[in-house]
Amino acid sequence: MKTPVRVTVTGPAGQIGYSTLFRIASGAMLGPDQPVELRLLERTNSTSQSALKGVMMELEDCAFPLLHGLMSTTDQKEAFRDTDYALLIGARPRGPGMERADLLEANAQIFNTQGRALDEVAKRSVKVIVVGNPCNTNAWIAMKSAPSLSPKCFSAMLRLDQNRARAQVAKKTGAPVSHIHQVAVWGNHSPTMFPDLSAATVDGRKATDILDAAWIRDEFIPTVAKRGSEIIKARGASSAASAGAAAIDHMRDWALGSAGEWVTMGVPSDGSYGIPEGLVFGFPCVCRNGDYDIVQGLGFDDEAKARIAKTLAELESERDAVKAFLKL
Ligand code: NAD
Ligand code: LMR
Repeated sequence: MKTPVRVTVTGPAGQIGYSTLFRIASGAMLGPDQPVELRLLERTNSTSQSALKGVMMELEDCAFPLLHGLMSTTDQKEAFRDTDYALLIGARPRGPGMERADLLEANAQIFNTQGRALDEVAKRSVKVIVVGNPCNTNAWIAMKSAPSLSPKCFSAMLRLDQNRARAQVAKKTGAPVSHIHQVAVWGNHSPTMFPDLSAATVDGRKATDILDAAWIRDEFIPTVAKRGSEIIKARGASSAASAGAAAIDHMRDWALGSAGEWVTMGVPSDGSYGIPEGLVFGFPCVCRNGDYDIVQGLGFDDEAKARIAKTLAELESERDAVKAFLKL
């Protein structure tokens, strides 16, 4: 059995928290031989604290052999001290009729202070995933607020978009998801994202040889890009179980490797594909040895270039908006 690692989860009393914590504690994220100490950071209000108390009672009642520690706090430094993994989920979710841009300012403050706390007290090797929306820009804020940590410590969750894309291809072709590879989602976790099948394979064949171009353009791309809004419309609340599952997938592959599989992660650009350095952008990545590499050498046709330019422009405008009031 390995030495226990610390996992900090923010917003543990919320919907995604509830669908994530039990899987982390059971070993689904870091493996069946990796004990974890959970550190839960919630807001001080009595409703959240009461819900959190219930969640912690349930975690105890599962008697998970890998759960070697469980604590909650409202203090950021206590939550992030020496932490190895941080899942930044807590944020104000988007409700019906709300645009993601409305959330920018409300959430920027949260990720600014959490970034500073991580900078001061987290392990230098910490792996951070930002789930709370707008997740790319929130991850950028946290990264910029933590100048003594490597930018590579920070990531945003686009895995849900990649999972949605693979699932749509599986539904259309009848092939199991496990036979669908090299699906990428570029850019922002927002309706401007670009779900890309140009390198994808289905049962070893090129997806673009099997699937009609009109279906990809008129059905597949909009369905994936608007899936979050459709779920909010249908449920009256944003996706939670699928978001939690994607967060687990993202962290597991980052920590333990993706075995050659392409995984979409929002990561600070290193200048690949002309994306300005530092911008947190969805890229296809391959994970190995606790690190990730952006997949290189892919080409784009004019339509793909236009889609990438659009999502990039949106991310740059989000960044400029938060820069103005956070002075980053
Ligand atoms: P929720 O409202 O059910 O839970 C959020 C929790 O976070 C609440 O318990 C709240 O008290 C807590 N919280 C708020 N601010 C906090 C802070 N500063 N510190 C600690 N805790 C804090 O929301 P949810 O459904 O769990 O969604 C959480 C976030 O995830 C939202 O921003 C949502 O838009 C986003 N989301 C992202 C994706 C993605 O793919 N990236 C998918 C689904 C949802
Ligand atoms: C999702 O993709 O399901 C969410 O990010 C939607 C949202 O805006 O909360």
